[in-house]
Amino acid sequence: MIDKINELLAEVNDMKAKNAEELEALRIKYLSKKGKIPELMSDFRLVPPEMKKEIGIRINELKDRAQARMAELREQFAISDADNSDLDLTRTAYPVQLGTRHPLTIVKNEIIDIFSRLGFTLADGPEVEDDWYVFSSMNFAEDHPARDMQDTFFIESHPDIILRTHTSSVQSRVMEVQKPPIRVICPGRVYRNEAISYRAHCFFHQVEGLYVDKNVSFTDLKQVLLLFAQEMFGSDTKIRLRPSYFPFTEPSAEMDISCNICGGKGCAFCKGTGWVEILGCGMVDPNVLELNGIDSSVYSGYAFGMGIERITNLKYQVKDLRMFSENDTRFLREFESAN
Ligand code: PHE
Repeated sequence: MIDKINELLAEVNDMKAKNAEELEALRIKYLSKKGKIPELMSDFRLVPPEMKKEIGIRINELKDRAQARMAELREQFAISDADNSDLDLTRTAYPVQLGTRHPLTIVKNEIIDIFSRLGFTLADGPEVEDDWYVFSSMNFAEDHPARDMQDTFFIESHPDIILRTHTSSVQSRVMEVQKPPIRVICPGRVYRNEAISYRAHCFFHQVEGLYVDKNVSFTDLKQVLLLFAQEMFGSDTKIRLRPSYFPFTEPSAEMDISCNICGGKGCAFCKGTGWVEILGCGMVDPNVLELNGIDSSVYSGYAFGMGIERITNLKYQVKDLRMFSENDTRFLREFESAN
């Protein structure tokens, strides 16, 4: 009897099971009613009384050991089951980190939104342009310095083909195919041959505005720009127009807004003046209307052009223009909440 118990104890200690089914087979083999251990119990009757105590203890030990060993084996499955539970094909996907909108896009959309509420529709044109749309149709004299290599990127083999230096080229593209009333804004990228630094880049973005109709006056222009400035920078923003010159507008002006960083008190951004320039504007030069097939004795118009980077800097105080095109996600993610 003792030998049998020892033999079973060795078997029990050596029990192995790779899965729950094998474990169940072991349980049946050793512990079920007809299993090897209960079988020992039935032989127990035959044990001489003086040995009953010892044998009884040994059988109980064997049973305990068998149960403990099975629990050990079961635990291993539990762990590997837990491993498998990672592979739950019904669960939803891990949250995908969403990208953020580029600050220039955020501001561009805001500009578009303000002007669409005033009835402006979107227009666009190509970035690779020819001299006519960028310069000639915009009333630039043949020898105007802006045509100079300093400012304009020319295609070497085709000096007539250039990268547009301003979105005013879209004015001409629109007038060519549309009769007044015309009320469009044209956002887009422009290129200038400048050395790249924190305050200048060889490409940047503008939004052009053009309104051509009967009886359009400078007052209309001023009112629209005031409304824009207040929508963009807050209702207490003031504007100021300074006389200027552009070949395609007459009269021309540059518009400043009260510095929204210091509230007009004077700071480093506005160089202590309390004002910052944000756009160029003016009444469309009658020559431009004529060059683009619109009768300047019937129609008049205004136009304006602003740099999106400039507006974005004012809103978000980005000190280095290069940040806009470096695609550093740490910078871009800062605009997450502005989306
Ligand atoms: N095209 C001008 C520039 O790039 C801006 C402008 C647009 C000025 C329309 C007047 C009217 O500086």
